[in-house]
Amino acid sequence: MLAPPSSSRGNSGSRPLTGQKDERPASTPGSTATASGLHVGDLTKALKAVSLNSPHREFEFTSADFDRIRKLLYEHAGIALSPAKQDMVYSRLARRLRAHNYQSFAQYLQHLERDHSEWETFINSLTTNLTSFFRESHHFDILSTQLKQIKEKRQIKIWCCASSTGEEPYSLAITACEAFSSLSPPVQILASDIDTAVLAQGEQGSYRRDQVERMQPAYIERYFTRNAVDNIYTARAELRRLIVFRRINLLSPIWALQGAFDAIFCRNVMIYFDKPTQYGILKRFAPLLRLDGRLYAGHSESFLHASDLLRSLGHTVYVRLDSPLR
Ligand SMILES: C[S@@+](CC[C@H](N)C(=O)[O-])C[C@H]1O[C@@H](n2cnc3c(N)ncnc32)[C@H](O)[C@@H]1O
Repeated sequence: MLAPPSSSRGNSGSRPLTGQKDERPASTPGSTATASGLHVGDLTKALKAVSLNSPHREFEFTSADFDRIRKLLYEHAGIALSPAKQDMVYSRLARRLRAHNYQSFAQYLQHLERDHSEWETFINSLTTNLTSFFRESHHFDILSTQLKQIKEKRQIKIWCCASSTGEEPYSLAITACEAFSSLSPPVQILASDIDTAVLAQGEQGSYRRDQVERMQPAYIERYFTRNAVDNIYTARAELRRLIVFRRINLLSPIWALQGAFDAIFCRNVMIYFDKPTQYGILKRFAPLLRLDGRLYAGHSESFLHASDLLRSLGHTVYVRLDSPLR
């Protein structure tokens, strides 16, 4: 029996500044959807019959190894990898085999079973972290309006639950500073992710020019300092003070956090989960939201299958069913 991934933080799988992994899932494992009239079960059998070992491959990688990896990733991270992702899995994990001097994926999987410290790097290697500053920018306009409407003097709480390398929580922090015309707005942002390597990058808050340049130049000037030697832009201490980075696996039965949140940003991560997994997470989100709190989802994520929990306000923004907001 394989142990669950470690929940400890660490840099063992840390990637350099540029290291976002950006492959998107194509479909859900176990899905019965048909493509071109072909049943997925038949397709899976056909794929299994094909050896995964191309003559150009450095390591032995069988369809049984691939199935095992898909199953482990699904069980521990909820990520439903499509059967078409063999090459991606091979290239992401080949460096781990090299690091341990193994010849086959079977040897690596045995190692994973024995050495629990490898779990963190295994998961980190297989997540997809594509993100950018002010991605789907309309959400930051909606959030700005939401923040300006809060008249009580209290701490405003935002959870960014798949924060990747930090661009999203820093965009939230900038939105808060702008909304309150202050570098110390009454806002606390919890930025979490399953991947400890991206969390470490977020905590560092340093980005290349091409990563920050999507932002308004005034924001770059106001909220980042530039190192003239390497042309790296680092978020100012005031901005970083608004954010706490922490490892939280959305699939874990316990989340080390406290509501109630004014906003939960859960964008472009649910697409990696199947509907029952999404529903289970949404069921836990709903009571963590304030009555006037909003759940922000990615543009291709619809939660209409959870209409007994959440109501859509449009633009992939949701509220609790019992919210007075329309
Ligand atoms: C494509 S990125 C999206 C980043 C950001 N939310 C955005 O929209 O730009 C997806 C992130 O979800 C994280 N993730 C995947 N499975 C997760 C899980 N079970 N719990 C928490 N985070 C997870 C990945 O590590 C990755 O950083």
